[in-house]
Amino acid sequence: MSAVRLTEFVPQLTHYSIEQQSHPLPWSEKNFCSCQGSQYRNRLLSIADEAIGFSICQQVFDEITLMNIAVLPSFRGQGWGAYLLRDVIDYSKHKRLTLWLEVRASNHVAISLYRQYGFCEVGRRPNYYPCENKAHEDALVMRWQHAE
Ligand SMILES: CC(C)(COP(=O)(O)OP(=O)(O)OC[C@H]1O[C@@H](n2cnc3c(N)ncnc32)[C@H](O)[C@@H]1OP(=O)(O)O)[C@@H](O)C(=O)NCCC(=O)NCCS
Repeated sequence: MSAVRLTEFVPQLTHYSIEQQSHPLPWSEKNFCSCQGSQYRNRLLSIADEAIGFSICQQVFDEITLMNIAVLPSFRGQGWGAYLLRDVIDYSKHKRLTLWLEVRASNHVAISLYRQYGFCEVGRRPNYYPCENKAHEDALVMRWQHAE
């Protein structure tokens, strides 16, 4: 099997194509590359030296937010998204952090993944995300919390 590696990374333009291929309205290059510094915990997933996915988290005190998670389209449906998510959950558990995320209400694939790994919907932000047709859609706020 090809070598699978999950490593720390600083988002750079070389990784931006994963972002572009993953979201209908991707972050700008500037926003993507600004996710760095001591508050960030970012992981890059590579197979045989090809970057195929990432997670980007921001930690503030005892809370951490999964800001972004993505897998290249040709590698989806093979467990790599779950692999990235489990790593974030394991880190949150280890550090006893409350883990948050926001997701488009229409993103059924991601919502299914999050529910499967124990996230619960705790709120909804109406019309939070812009859409391609200039309309907006709701964000679901989801939380995973370390059980006492
Ligand atoms: C969300 C995403 C990271 C999932 O990655 P993935 O590698 O395809 O996911 P996995 O193969 O690990 O699947 C894990 C779970 O996701 C869900 N899932 C994956 N593909 C699915 C599909 N086509 N339909 C429905 N659910 C699906 C299932 O719950 C699946 O669990 P199962 O295999 O036991 O049924 C990936 O689809 C992606 O990059 N999407 C674009 C970016 C995005 O929307 N990010 C999330 C919001 S920031």
